[in-house]
Amino acid sequence: DKGGHRHFMAKEIAEQPHVIGEALSHYLTADGRDIALPDTMPDFAGVDRLVLVACGTAYFACVTAKYWFERIARLPVEVDIASEFRYREPPVADGTVALFVSQSGETADTLAALRYCADKAAHVVSVVNVPESSIARESGTALPILAGVEVGVASTKAFTCQLTVLYLLALKAARQRGHLDADALADRLSALRSLPGILNHALAQDRSAKKVARKLAEADDILFLGRGLMYPLAMEGALKLKEISYIHAEAYASGELKHGPIALIDKRMPVVVMAPRDALFDKTVSNMQEVMARGGKVTLVTDEAGLAEAGDGVTHTLVMPTVADDLAPILYAIPAQQLAYHTAIAKGTDVDQPRNLAKSVTVE
Ligand code: M6R
Repeated sequence: DKGGHRHFMAKEIAEQPHVIGEALSHYLTADGRDIALPDTMPDFAGVDRLVLVACGTAYFACVTAKYWFERIARLPVEVDIASEFRYREPPVADGTVALFVSQSGETADTLAALRYCADKAAHVVSVVNVPESSIARESGTALPILAGVEVGVASTKAFTCQLTVLYLLALKAARQRGHLDADALADRLSALRSLPGILNHALAQDRSAKKVARKLAEADDILFLGRGLMYPLAMEGALKLKEISYIHAEAYASGELKHGPIALIDKRMPVVVMAPRDALFDKTVSNMQEVMARGGKVTLVTDEAGLAEAGDGVTHTLVMPTVADDLAPILYAIPAQQLAYHTAIAKGTDVDQPRNLAKSVTVE
């Protein structure tokens, strides 16, 4: 049932405020000041290193989480694609927690990587959408993301629910490791509780995204740029777009631009810049200006403050509500999804069932 939407993907994009709210009610304590995790979950105070492993969109959720765990919880994180991790035979020492993220819980490479770590006696945690899946069953601790059934092959609500649960884990780790006091944690959780309302404002920008997408649909190649937390989000935006619109898209950390990809810039390759007005904004803007100076056509996804500061010369803008810096990846996922969705519609592709792809990749 598409709930009145044209595609499951549109329905699932629209469900995000609700399902994120569900995940928050599941994990927050009754007073809303702490995060409740199962007893089997190791205390992060005794953890030396976290290994995050996944495929596709779930991998980009892991890359985002690395920024959170390292900055907020001061916990060293290794993040890898499951198909690389499993064959690299990496050392997994005592004191390592291995965490696997998977919507389906059946992805063959992620499951194999999990088994590799379980054999090495690492504590295995999974963040999954399907609680009865193989990955959930074989984990020491399985944490549900509570996104509900996701039908569209392009993952949307599972991604933002994965981010929500991973952010909660990073906050819990910060608290247990002494980098966040009880009041600071409560403040962050209260900001998180206002997120579903903020996401609704982003969903309301759908018409603007559709207009931009009509232009993107004319391109053969599209570049996504972002820094810090917006870098993994840029990668997710590029994946979403190529999956369903079949337009070649790739993402770069904006600081890497002058190390090669700037040679590609011309007026025919649109550049989507994801940049809330955060601490790294000025750096991203200077990269964006380098693109525009070479005739590149920029779509800037930012907030009111960012628009006021850097809107000049930009071809298109999508204006997001203001949000706490650490929560920006969850919010900016929405315009990334909308751009991909409407570009695919403009191209006339099969949005929910794109060619050559399966919802669950159970063979390697
Ligand atoms: O079920 P999983 O989360 O383990 O799936 C991982 C990837 O196959 C998946 O995220 C894929 O990249 C999606 N089609 C992305 O939209």
